[in-house]
Amino acid sequence: MKPKENQSPVEFWEEVYANASPRTKGQPSAALARFASDRLPGHALELGCAKGDDAVWLANMGWMVVAVDISSTALSYAGANAQAHGVFGKINFQQHDLTHSFPEGEFDLVSAMFLQTPFEFARETVLRQAASSLKKGGLFLAVTHGSRPSWSWDKANTSFPPPQKRFQDLGLIPTHWREVFVGNEERVASGPDGQQGAITDTIVCLERC
Ligand SMILES: C[S@@+](CC[C@H](N)C(=O)[O-])C[C@H]1O[C@@H](n2cnc3c(N)ncnc32)[C@H](O)[C@@H]1O
Repeated sequence: MKPKENQSPVEFWEEVYANASPRTKGQPSAALARFASDRLPGHALELGCAKGDDAVWLANMGWMVVAVDISSTALSYAGANAQAHGVFGKINFQQHDLTHSFPEGEFDLVSAMFLQTPFEFARETVLRQAASSLKKGGLFLAVTHGSRPSWSWDKANTSFPPPQKRFQDLGLIPTHWREVFVGNEERVASGPDGQQGAITDTIVCLERC
């Protein structure tokens, strides 16, 4: 889906979710499960939480979660998801356009899964702010697409910077961070109509020293 002329980011994402089924995948992002499963639960911040599968998984693992999205419809789906799994009380859902506002707090885990949008978006600035909200020893996890799924509406002009470039672009002070994993991972994923295909995740996973 592409934005209509003069559509604002919030209008665009509201329309995306208004046209989407509230049904969720019922499972966390592969990278989150891989890197957060063995962490001691604390306070987590999830940016661009969509229908809440990652927030629900974290809450089930014992985390207190702040889950953020620009779309109130996405947040209402995520809230229903949390209620269905008995973890509504462990997730603080907040609506922010992260270009303009950011949740308060200090966190032990920050997760940004495919925080991507067809609008001009200062993603690195947002992620730098997210990184600065981490306590010492906290985990930073940001995943972007490293390839174009066959079902993507975005057929052109997308570049897929290599993982180290993604890390460098964040502009973090390297000595303040330990690289847990900065690399590409292949996996099989499902598209919106149930089609299956191989995709690449570009993962930047760091621990704050
Ligand atoms: C590509 S989706 C990824 C959703 C989910 N994290 C996942 O892995 O499937 C991007 C999400 O970020 C949200 N988003 C887009 N722009 C945003 C902004 N400026 N501020 C906050 N959330 C935003 C969208 O509503 C959407 O839920």
